[in-house]
Amino acid sequence: MKILVTGAVGQLGRDVVALFEQQSMEVLPCDRDSLDITDSEACLRRIQEFTPDVIIHCAAYTAVDQAETDIDQAYQVNAVGTRNLVVAAEKISAKFCYISTDYVFDGQSTTGYHEYDNTNPQSIYGKSKRAGEVLVQSLSSAYFIVRTSWVYGLHGNNFVKTMLKLGKDKPVLQVVNDQKGSPTYTVDLAAFPLDLVQTAQYGI
Ligand SMILES: NC(=O)c1ccc[n+]([C@@H]2O[C@H](COP(=O)([O-])OP(=O)(O)OC[C@H]3O[C@@H](n4cnc5c(N)ncnc54)[C@H](OP(=O)(O)O)[C@@H]3O)[C@@H](O)[C@H]2O)c1
Repeated sequence: MKILVTGAVGQLGRDVVALFEQQSMEVLPCDRDSLDITDSEACLRRIQEFTPDVIIHCAAYTAVDQAETDIDQAYQVNAVGTRNLVVAAEKISAKFCYISTDYVFDGQSTTGYHEYDNTNPQSIYGKSKRAGEVLVQSLSSAYFIVRTSWVYGLHGNNFVKTMLKLGKDKPVLQVVNDQKGSPTYTVDLAAFPLDLVQTAQYGI
């Protein structure tokens, strides 16, 4: 199986690439330098050259706070970039796996969300990721949308690393206490699409 991974040097992308390579799959890891997903022609060219069976789309504009003032760029990457990849995937009949987020919800639920719950994103990041989902749902005939939350792993910045670093420097830490989430380990998360993309269990 041939797999193209976007965001391949990101926190999740690195573990996805490593895991798929361990399975002796032919993997094309794409970082921003080798494939800027906002460039539609480059997406088409790269995907038509490699002809992957599956695209695992981990690249995203993930700076949640910054997105509030960098609106165009957040949509450009999370919505338009996703569209560029899906359109190219469809041309070669590749399956498309889009990594999405709990930020598509408003966070008001007191119980866990289901795949079929209505979305209601509150932030630019959440709205731009939801726009990416909508484009995937309307343009791909073989898609998986995997919503995750609060990702942490060995690579990149995350809450765990920030706390460990602050813990070394400060005797007492002050942290918000009005936010609840489900931390997700990148290695566990990477294992999920590995199983999923080998099925026809399309949808969210
Ligand atoms: N982190 C979380 O807590 C969390 C929670 C829920 C869902 N997710 C989702 O999980 C996925 C992976 O997140 P992550 O934590 O691994 O994010 P990450 O570490 O920020 O990695 C994202 C990657 O996307 C790349 N990228 C950004 N713009 C690009 C462009 N125009 N062309 C090509 N590559 C581009 C970034 O490259 P540069 O470094 O060059 O910008 C980066 O390597 C994302 O879809 C994210 O929305 C993450």
